[in-house]
Amino acid sequence: MEKELLLILDFGAHNNQQVAKMAREAGVYCEVKPYNISEEELNALEPKGIVFIGEEETAEKDAGAAAERIKKSAVHGPRVMELGNQKTEEEVKKFLFDDCGFSGSWTTEAFISDMVEQIRAQVGDRKVLCALSGGVDSSVCAALVHKAVGDQLTCMFVNHGLMRKGEPEMVADIFGKQFNMKLISIDAVDRFLDKLAGVDDPERKRKIIGEEFIRVFEEESAKLGKMDYLVQGTIYPDIIESVSNKGVVKSHHNVGGLPEDIDFELVEPLKWLFKDEVRKVGEALGLPHEQVWRQPFPGPGLGVRVVGAITRQKVEYVRESDAILREEIKNAGLEKSIWQYFTVCPGCRSVGVKDGKRTYEEAISIRAILSSDAMTADVAELPYPLLNKIACRIVAEVDGVNRVMYDVTPKPPATIEWE
Ligand code: XMP
Repeated sequence: MEKELLLILDFGAHNNQQVAKMAREAGVYCEVKPYNISEEELNALEPKGIVFIGEEETAEKDAGAAAERIKKSAVHGPRVMELGNQKTEEEVKKFLFDDCGFSGSWTTEAFISDMVEQIRAQVGDRKVLCALSGGVDSSVCAALVHKAVGDQLTCMFVNHGLMRKGEPEMVADIFGKQFNMKLISIDAVDRFLDKLAGVDDPERKRKIIGEEFIRVFEEESAKLGKMDYLVQGTIYPDIIESVSNKGVVKSHHNVGGLPEDIDFELVEPLKWLFKDEVRKVGEALGLPHEQVWRQPFPGPGLGVRVVGAITRQKVEYVRESDAILREEIKNAGLEKSIWQYFTVCPGCRSVGVKDGKRTYEEAISIRAILSSDAMTADVAELPYPLLNKIACRIVAEVDGVNRVMYDVTPKPPATIEWE
């Protein structure tokens, strides 16, 4: 396929990813770069078209000069479009197809066949290892690399004891049985839970889970003999360079994030894709629809949904109540309209009565939110009869829980997860 690139230069726009997604949906491959890109890089990229995006109020001081410089150096090359927020999709398409002459041939299938070739060229006949978490990105990575190099790929799944109900079994079923991949499942539940015993600080918990994952991965991969490549599920929003990137409130280091000095070369087949594109690739490769479109799940898993120190019992309360919530939301036909829904064990006990006897047991909080990017969130207005049914099932079926609450706080000021 002829290389056709649309370059999106970010002059301080809030919507840089939206414009990029609009172009890609029209079959035009694009990359976002900061406005102060060097001339060498600009020339090396050989864009067929350039779009400037940014708002005057937020633009950097030297933006005007930079825009002039790029327009001058682009005189005999790509067409340039200055895009304020006011341009419509029609106008963008007109620019892409009529002015620049893009072919619009960048599709999921074209991406897959290109990437399969690239992975084969990179890997040759050597061995590849993939840390499979069961999340969307690592699942799609595994399926893509498997399509390219088959049994040269070994996947490793580490069960840290903080998965949702049925997750380890689902990974074994999809990747081990259906895809027939070489899959190694490590039961590290005791190891993680012992390390986490008594630790109540949220960031410390995240750090322990991340570090322990690396230890387990190092020990177990050493047993496999020499592996040359490691698959990394990096996606485009993780690496996008722009002047509009925002700061973070929590350390979202993904579990499965490996140390920099690791002795592997990386295969990163998704690093140019947005999340929705990753999902489309996953479906095209035959991964189950529910697996590919599942709601976000934090790397440290249920570990950040047990507030304070993690105990096996509290993890079970969350795991069981979460399974009930998911089942009821699915039965109500609401799973596609809610961004994220889960339960939390806030770690407060309260008095209740069960079978005429006093109880003093844990509470569970339900969280269900609407969002488009997880940066802000509104509370989903679940129908009261549904909430009531879920609450009744949780107190009846989860031994040790006698109270259910509904978290009605938007983000901000609350975050989506409780920790
Ligand atoms: P917050 O709680 O910050 O969450 O509003 C925003 C989104 O990120 C997810 N999240 C995490 N994801 N590792 C992850 O991979 C983490 O440590 C982590 N903490 C929060 C959260 O589920 C939501 O989708």
